[in-house]
Amino acid sequence: MIYARVAGTGSFLPGNPVTNDDLVARGIDTSDEWIAERTGIRARHLAEPDVTASQLAYEASIRAIEAAGCQPADIDLIIVATSTPDYIFPSTAALLQARLGIANGGAAFDLQAVCTGFAYALATAEKFIRSGSNKRALVVGAEVFSRILDWNDRSTCVLFGDGAGAVVLEASDKPGILATALHADGSHNPILCVPGQVNRGSVTGDPFLRMDGQAVFKFAVRVLSDVAREVTAQVGMPIDALDWLIPHQANIRIMQATGKRLGLPMEKVIATVAQHGNTSAASIPLALDHAVRDGRVQRGQRLLLEGVGGGFTWGAVLLEF
Ligand code: UT7
Repeated sequence: MIYARVAGTGSFLPGNPVTNDDLVARGIDTSDEWIAERTGIRARHLAEPDVTASQLAYEASIRAIEAAGCQPADIDLIIVATSTPDYIFPSTAALLQARLGIANGGAAFDLQAVCTGFAYALATAEKFIRSGSNKRALVVGAEVFSRILDWNDRSTCVLFGDGAGAVVLEASDKPGILATALHADGSHNPILCVPGQVNRGSVTGDPFLRMDGQAVFKFAVRVLSDVAREVTAQVGMPIDALDWLIPHQANIRIMQATGKRLGLPMEKVIATVAQHGNTSAASIPLALDHAVRDGRVQRGQRLLLEGVGGGFTWGAVLLEF
């Protein structure tokens, strides 16, 4: 039996933390109290204007590759989950492959599932590895969401940040990813979207993130608890057998409500949203890497990674670390 096992993790945040008070000082009509109370966010990192998703992805990737004890040349598949790619094309994954100095490598492609992107990418890489076609995948979530925020819309711009997280996933005879579940319902696309495009040399539509916060909140809590039950049921694992829930880091209240619905205490939920804000596809691997490096996540533990985001998409990956 071939399993796909996480061999190493890495992450990267650009620049210094930008606190809620810093946003107020920059002229945004908000307060630390409002943001912290409604979301749990205290700070986020914002990339300089010339820093791209592939640069953040590179920094996270070299840390993951080092942690995995391998070399860039050993990577035969790269999947980058991002909604803020460097270009329309080539893919951020191809640019990352070039930055890593991998010549004549295996497949490299981007995957677009917004905040569920990393769960989709990990589940996709797992299928490649379990089929025997690939041995070692680099799976990355990288975002410069600050580029698609309307800084005049206080209801969205305070929520998001930039960053990247990565894992090296390799073939192993030990578990490994145990189960995955991915879903989408495109009919909900208007409640979280960036409804613009490049058309004949100019941007048409609206190039900024638009969101119905309350609709997203309710949807997120429901599907995050449903998909957690679904993926654990696939292997007959009770929820309380999980060592850690590592959810998409959007809002601490969503995480608390999901934990409550699942009967999981917050002591078992990894939450980094206070320091990172919502980094979309980067949020799950960022949280995972922080918990690995601070010693909370240990080898052999059972982790449930899950996300929800634009599309709408949602999904979960259950694994033994
Ligand atoms: O990856 C998924 C991404 N999205 C999410 O996870 C979002 C999920 N939703 C949420 O987290 C919450 O809905 C928000 C944090 C976005 C908003 O919280 P809320 O409790 O739903 O607030 P609201 O939208 O109902 O707004 C309440 C008030 C409004 O003022 P009035 O009309 O009551 O006078 C807003 O104008 O809060 C005001 N407001 C703000 N005040 C200070 C909205 N944004 C801000 C702000 N600072 N940044």
